[in-house]
Amino acid sequence: METKIKEARYLRIYEQLKGLLTKTDFDISRMATIAALLHHKMDYFFWTGFYLLVDDELLVGPYQGSLACQKIEKNTGVCWAGINQMKTIIVPDVHQFPGHIACDSRSNSEIVVPIYKNNKVVGVLDVDSNKFNSFDEIDAKWLEKICKLI
Ligand code: SME
Repeated sequence: METKIKEARYLRIYEQLKGLLTKTDFDISRMATIAALLHHKMDYFFWTGFYLLVDDELLVGPYQGSLACQKIEKNTGVCWAGINQMKTIIVPDVHQFPGHIACDSRSNSEIVVPIYKNNKVVGVLDVDSNKFNSFDEIDAKWLEKICKLI
């Protein structure tokens, strides 16, 4: 997607989310709203959702898209890399990422954004695309901003 169009679309989504996320402080409801809106507004988002750290396990949270793995084996794949490195991970070609977990074999690129509560990582936003090289620094910037709304 062209840079200008992508920036404008994220800005609209962000403004809409700020309005939508005023109804409750319950994290799961806020994540469900974010996943649904992003998934339906961004046409290259093939799977959009959250994995949450629960008792040191990474378990699936609210998501949109095809059926996902419920639990991700510790310290494997892109989501755990985001948790362990505490930074956004952009993977242009998931097939080249050591230990990548393919919940759906149609995924080709991915971005993982850590979510923080009280300065601790509590989970990640994970987005897959069925095209290669879908995510860049604009996605990283806006998805990080969106995750701060939770
Ligand atoms: N690919 C992720 C697993 C989650 S699915 O993409 C929904 C990973 O490697 O951690």
